[in-house]
Amino acid sequence: MNTVFLEHSDLRIDTPRLAARLDALAQVGAIDGGGVNRLAFTDADRDGRNLVIGWMRDLAMDIRIDGIGNVIATLSGRDASLAPIMIGSHIDSVRTGGRFDGTLGVCAGLEVVETLKTAGVTLERSIEVAYFSDEEGSRYPPDALGSMVYCGHRDLESALDTVGIDGTRLGDELARIGYAGPTPSPGTVPHAFLELHIEQGPVLEHEGITIGVVTGVQGISWQTITVSGQSNHAGTTPMALRRDAAVVAARIAVEVREIVRTVAIETGTPQVGNVGSIRTFPGLVNVVAASATLTVDLRNTDDAALTLTEIRLRDFCAATADAENLAITEESTARSRPVSFDPHLIDLVARTAELLGYSHRRMPSGAAHDAQEFATICRSAMIFVPSVGGLSHNVGEFTELSDIGAGADVLLQVVFAIE
Ligand code: HGY
Ligand code: MN
Ligand code: MN
Repeated sequence: MNTVFLEHSDLRIDTPRLAARLDALAQVGAIDGGGVNRLAFTDADRDGRNLVIGWMRDLAMDIRIDGIGNVIATLSGRDASLAPIMIGSHIDSVRTGGRFDGTLGVCAGLEVVETLKTAGVTLERSIEVAYFSDEEGSRYPPDALGSMVYCGHRDLESALDTVGIDGTRLGDELARIGYAGPTPSPGTVPHAFLELHIEQGPVLEHEGITIGVVTGVQGISWQTITVSGQSNHAGTTPMALRRDAAVVAARIAVEVREIVRTVAIETGTPQVGNVGSIRTFPGLVNVVAASATLTVDLRNTDDAALTLTEIRLRDFCAATADAENLAITEESTARSRPVSFDPHLIDLVARTAELLGYSHRRMPSGAAHDAQEFATICRSAMIFVPSVGGLSHNVGEFTELSDIGAGADVLLQVVFAIE
């Protein structure tokens, strides 16, 4: 831990100021129940981006925007030759999003900058605060697409050609909202990447712990499965002659849970699975479904077990479609291996929480984050704060102000302490 930490260990962020930014951002794309709908590259996303860029300008930060709309603001340090410390997350949301998912990490980064400026502290390294495009991936899969492009894990051109669930092309929507920037990607590699995020699960609250010291992010597998049968009359077609796509899709949806359960037992790993959408065509009460499309989200901290789950699902799909004389296709829309964060930074987060007097525990992240991409190009770490009721991707998502302040203070002091 370096001497700077000792000099400023009494400095604290301004929690009401951070809360005010979170509240203002939560008004953008606000939906009933206190949540937000800022799907990537929609008008609401644009309005959220504009609000945050305004705050970055108010803090006199240098701003750059890259070809997929990632926005990076810089507070210069004393030595411009040193790689910066980057604090980042996202401000896009799912359709029924909460007010803290992603926004906490971006607003806390700006709060760290404003605290440094107010205290007249200029660090040796520059501090960068970034929001990355399309972290959720639910309109344009995969998740963390913006940070994948920034880190060189996906080429810009193919990312811009991504077709969304609504049939639009990512690059066209990005240009429409005015965020197709000139800065080349991959972006510059930071000295370290830090992300403060809500846990989005029940563990910290259940154990009465304030700070999650995140050890890594579990692997993720998304796929879109399309079953093709034959539309027919719901009243006249004999049951034995139907080629019913809806029935096969429903069987697959139920079997996902059974495969997940058995793999978790066999491998002793925390396998999870979700069927988030099932759509039939033409989707009418008196027509046997011609086709059905479902999405599957599988995750595990163990990549071999995740792969075993994928294989079992693929075999089940083939056998079930075959038995009903239907065609079936599976398209992988996201696949990332489990990542681990930097052991020294993990220790630093834990020691900092300890020094600040906050209870803390090490834990993996069940959710995906931009930090998963940075973990493969630079030293990275995440800090969690509790989610009330473990709720997220839900308009009722909530985190206590005291926990928000605690997480941002740990973030501030980790920035001072990073070697
Ligand atoms: O899907 C996730 O885990 C993240 O919220 N994008
Ligand atoms: Mn998030
Ligand atoms: Mn999310």
